[in-house]
Amino acid sequence: MHLLDLDRAGVLALGDFIARHNAAPERHVASLADAPQAVREEVAGFGDDEFRACAAYDGAEPAGIFLAEYDRELARAWLKGPIVAADDPAAWRTLAAALLQRIETLLPAGIDQVQLFFDERALLLADFAREHGFVARPYASLSMALSVPTVERSLREAVVVLPRDLRADFATLHEATFPGAYFTSERLVESRDPRRWLFVHRAGASLSGYICGSVSAQLREAYVDFLGVREASRRKGVGAVLLLGAASELRAQHGIESLRLTVRSTDDPAVGLYAKLGMRTLRSMRAFERARRHPC
Ligand SMILES: CC(C)(COP(=O)(O)OP(=O)(O)OC[C@H]1O[C@@H](n2cnc3c(N)ncnc32)[C@H](O)[C@@H]1OP(=O)(O)O)[C@@H](O)C(=O)NCCC(=O)NCCS
Repeated sequence: MHLLDLDRAGVLALGDFIARHNAAPERHVASLADAPQAVREEVAGFGDDEFRACAAYDGAEPAGIFLAEYDRELARAWLKGPIVAADDPAAWRTLAAALLQRIETLLPAGIDQVQLFFDERALLLADFAREHGFVARPYASLSMALSVPTVERSLREAVVVLPRDLRADFATLHEATFPGAYFTSERLVESRDPRRWLFVHRAGASLSGYICGSVSAQLREAYVDFLGVREASRRKGVGAVLLLGAASELRAQHGIESLRLTVRSTDDPAVGLYAKLGMRTLRSMRAFERARRHPC
């Protein structure tokens, strides 16, 4: 068995391997997709200086892989793995540990916090995280989906692309609603990635809420990264309008059929809103965190 560091092409070559070994809920790494096309799109979307990867090979055969996506400004990395083929739990643990050690070593200086993210049914992975000093977040994260319904035209027209005059308001609202989020407001506004979208709802001269995310035309699906409504505008239907309006607009623009998002199980307003709109829960997941372990 030998370990190799991978560039993007190396990871893409293992797209099928990742999808195949990430399909069973008992081994599912929630920060990676479980369909080959979705994995490839995910990997293609990583910025050049935003990810690292390593793999284990048994001769020419892939035996495992670990990826990490990081943000230098937030000093955080989202570890995407371990994906290990071995069925035997002891062999699985040994290889997963070697890959974890390697991926942490590969992270650039300044990345201090690391996170793992697993399906709640993946008990082997949860044990692995604890054995390596990670602590589970006290709440689950739910992956939820909405089939895009047909809505009135007026609802679709209520959401618009962020106007220039509301950029400062948007930055204030995003930072107040999601402090320390994995996307800063500048990054959201300045993104040139054609897959990214951002819509807002305005009340006269001010911003009442926003919704943003990315779209996969091939998967006919949009993912919501953030949905936020100004406190004074809550409970007036703005959140529902943003979700339904964005879904409808994205269907018109990109042909999407469903909208997906992740929400904390303890976030009653958001879970209440999604339940009211008829969203279904696809998966319950758990994040594990700790300080990065530096190589000695
Ligand atoms: C979640 C959020 C976007 C909801 O926005 P909103 O504009 O208040 O939502 P709506 O007015 O459209 O709410 C529609 C339904 O959602 C549910 N809901 C909204 N707020 C709720 C609350 N505080 N408690 C329980 N249910 C709530 C209700 O079913 C409500 O219908 P009702 O008013 O007829 O009872 C808003 O609370 C928010 O910005 N929260 C902080 C950021 C966040 O958590 N975003 C979601 C991350 S995934």
